[in-house]
Amino acid sequence: MISKYIFGEPIETGAVVMELTQSEADFSVMQLEVQENAIQLSCHMAENDIVYGLGEQVRGMNKRGFAYISNATDDPAHTENKHSLYGAHNFMILHRCEKDSDGQKSFGIFVDDPGTVIFDVGQTDLDKLVITAGKNCVIYVIEGNNLKDMVKQFRELIGQSYVAPKWAFGYQQSRWSYETAEEVRSVVEGHHGKGIPLDAVYLDIDYMESYKDFTVDEEKFPNFEEFTAEMKEQGVHLVPIIDAGVKIEKDYPTYEEGVRENYFCKDEDGEDFVAAVWPGKVHFPDVLNSRAREWFGGKYRWLIEQGIDGFWNDMNEPAIFYSEKNLKKVFDEIMLKKDENMDLHAFFQMKNLVVGLSNNPVDYQSFYHDMDGKKIRHDQVHNLYGFNMTRAASEAFDKIEPDKRILLFSRSSYVGMHRYGGIWTGDNNAWWGQLLLSIQQMPGLNMCGFLYTGSDIGGFGSDTTEDLVMRWLEFGIFTPLMRNHAAIGTRYQEAYQFENTDAFRNIIRMRYGLLPYIYSEYMKAVLNNEMYFRPIAFDYPDDSQAFRVEDQLMVGESIMIAPVYVQNAKGRYVYLPEDMMMVRMKSLEEKSCEVLHKGHHYIDIALDEVVIFVKKNHMLPLAVLDQNVKTIADVDENRIEWIGFAEESAEYMLYSDDGMSRNYTPQENWKKVVLTKEELAKTKK
Ligand code: GLC
Repeated sequence: MISKYIFGEPIETGAVVMELTQSEADFSVMQLEVQENAIQLSCHMAENDIVYGLGEQVRGMNKRGFAYISNATDDPAHTENKHSLYGAHNFMILHRCEKDSDGQKSFGIFVDDPGTVIFDVGQTDLDKLVITAGKNCVIYVIEGNNLKDMVKQFRELIGQSYVAPKWAFGYQQSRWSYETAEEVRSVVEGHHGKGIPLDAVYLDIDYMESYKDFTVDEEKFPNFEEFTAEMKEQGVHLVPIIDAGVKIEKDYPTYEEGVRENYFCKDEDGEDFVAAVWPGKVHFPDVLNSRAREWFGGKYRWLIEQGIDGFWNDMNEPAIFYSEKNLKKVFDEIMLKKDENMDLHAFFQMKNLVVGLSNNPVDYQSFYHDMDGKKIRHDQVHNLYGFNMTRAASEAFDKIEPDKRILLFSRSSYVGMHRYGGIWTGDNNAWWGQLLLSIQQMPGLNMCGFLYTGSDIGGFGSDTTEDLVMRWLEFGIFTPLMRNHAAIGTRYQEAYQFENTDAFRNIIRMRYGLLPYIYSEYMKAVLNNEMYFRPIAFDYPDDSQAFRVEDQLMVGESIMIAPVYVQNAKGRYVYLPEDMMMVRMKSLEEKSCEVLHKGHHYIDIALDEVVIFVKKNHMLPLAVLDQNVKTIADVDENRIEWIGFAEESAEYMLYSDDGMSRNYTPQENWKKVVLTKEELAKTKK
């Protein structure tokens, strides 16, 4: 059951697709305090209660013990002290453990407020949940039978998730930047030459001419259309980045059109707001305005016509290096101190002035959107910017390529954007702890509908190491978006750069072997409004031990994974919530299976091994691959080896389609496979 509560005069965010009327009942799951400028909700959390959700955030799957602030922020250090990352995903479930919650019921809550929302989940007061939202918002309360049921109801409320083209379920390689066509060719050759499959190479900001959106640097990428076709012939899709800021430059058509037609965000005086990002001074397209959104989205056409079929939208919090006005103010203040003998306070004050130039809250309060006739100050709708930039592209794709799926994902997002594209988790670092963070982020993201997601494999910032990339790939083979990406100035981390090429090839090939499963489970999650990644307690709600597990995941209906994320670890403890079949793989071809009993186990997992746990009476389909599989298109989904164990028999629904068209529902896309326990025993190697 979903109850809707409206406070003040909320802005239509586009998060929700279901029409509901205001609830007649009083707001009762939490104490409600309507303050002058805010709504505050609070309740007690019993010792064993757990909070799940909040999407892209730092820390564990159980969010208790910290305060999380929804305020989309470009912050490349995802450390434990941070309260905000790039997304604003205001949905959480307070799971009450019946034993000590005094009969209080579990509930889900979604705060539909595009401004700053604070979820203090026991940071200030260990046992208290306090949610603070703006005075104009809509709050949805979801009650249900269990965790899965509450998520499903929420997902029905917010609408069906985006489906990427099938090739985007292949392995993808990125770097800031592959600077020239020649370099891109060498990356493709690096993979294919060593038998490592590859479906996409990313073009980061340097493919553009002076960082101008919808341009290609002709010197570095001559005959771009031909180059795109040449790559396609090798089965490789090029995925260019699109940034939010439009460079201010005379005669640059995107800029000129935007100014002429009033498509940019305005400052207090009604002038186009000036911020600075990669190209220097930019204007921000007012993607909250339907005319500007249509215009900006239409701009992607130029690249699509040159054969591009995938995009990543970036810097769309929107990130601001500095604003013209604030920069001037800071320079003036610093000049006053030029000859000063600065003590501790004076020095840090000056330093903070410079550091505070970027993503400054004052700047976000100083520009405006024209929301189809309504002038709204940016900070009140801040968290909707990335959402609407992505919506702009997606709505344009509907017109440009109505029957074709185009890969689209974004850095910033708000609930609702999951219908238009995926997200990646932004600028992580090549640290072991960030691998754990990416594992822990997945269920929260899935709860909010972000199914096409993954982290920068190997770590974006800092120099990585061979073992970290390998362990990260061993997790990454399960994330729908499987992309290796690294920052400028860091060590090159393409799979072929390392000595143990065989191990890298074997692990990446496993992804292609897993494709029938990953794709089927992805589509089930989309079509049934379910989670592809789940904390194990979601599947074993009667098992109190399962609620304590923070580093294992259920993936789809058949398997559980327990990735290794600790440096030098030779294995790890794994909790099995029931008897499961452990599949140990050195490669798709070299594997062994063993049924292990419910309980705690220490499992050896060598650096080059992947271990998967298959649930009882379930099956895992693995595609049998030829040695020369290069791309997703080479995977023969009819040559399948089935792994699993059953008391009597097991059943599995396989999904397959052409990977391109947008019609996901035909009955013939599904194939039911039933195997008896004897048949299953035979297929096992
Ligand atoms: C941002 C993105 C990163 C990209 C870089 C340069 O930091 O998050 O992925 O490589 O910008 O475009």
